[in-house]
Amino acid sequence: MSAFCRIILHFIFMALSQTTRLTYLNAMGISVWQSRSGSNITPIEADVMPSESPIESSQMLKSDSWAQLRTDVSECKLCTLCTTRTQTVFGEGNVNANWLFIGEAPGENEDLQGKPFVGEAGKLLTEMLRAMSLTREDIFIANILKCRPPKNRDPHIDEIQQCRAYLNRQIALVQPKIIIAVGRIAAQTLLETTEKIGKLRGQVYMVENMPLIAIYHPSYLLRSLTEKRKAWQDLQFAMQTFKSL
Ligand code: URA
Repeated sequence: MSAFCRIILHFIFMALSQTTRLTYLNAMGISVWQSRSGSNITPIEADVMPSESPIESSQMLKSDSWAQLRTDVSECKLCTLCTTRTQTVFGEGNVNANWLFIGEAPGENEDLQGKPFVGEAGKLLTEMLRAMSLTREDIFIANILKCRPPKNRDPHIDEIQQCRAYLNRQIALVQPKIIIAVGRIAAQTLLETTEKIGKLRGQVYMVENMPLIAIYHPSYLLRSLTEKRKAWQDLQFAMQTFKSL
């Protein structure tokens, strides 16, 4: 197909209604689950639901800026992690990225350097990106939590809730075409579910009109090499989905 035909098809596709687009994605074998509209995602309990959704924040924060957000994060004292952190880890990358990768929380290296995914898991993530013909400069990477939980324990519900508004503001500022939830905690938080990551991967979810795909966390892949084939399938699935947008 010529480049001209591709461009025309792209514009026709973008002009279609959301419903029609979803029908096309389904017809291409890409199953789409829409959050909040009768999907079989098991909701987490009401008291752990994030209070603010990305769309609300994008409407409310029209005058928000990266500088203001960075300051707010760096000065944050909303939870007790501020007493144990070396520094906050805001996130980094292309502020106009099409791809937004969201991980769990900073680890030891990230806490020391103030940057996301700089340890062993980060190196693997960079390799995973390379396999998708992406670089760290092409994407934006953020975490659910901006501070390291002590001894790398799982984030607590109240920490996730307190930190959520910062992530919502990042999503609203980047306006990505696709979100990749990196690992169980990110996927469960963003999809408001307690479902296992093995069940969540391999699907497209619409979260506030943005497609979201869950993939295995590189830390998990470092521990269980047998899952690498599935991880490669996840990356191909993400690329296929992005191309179809
Ligand atoms: N794991 C994450 O989820 N995020 C990081 O920034 C580092 C490791």
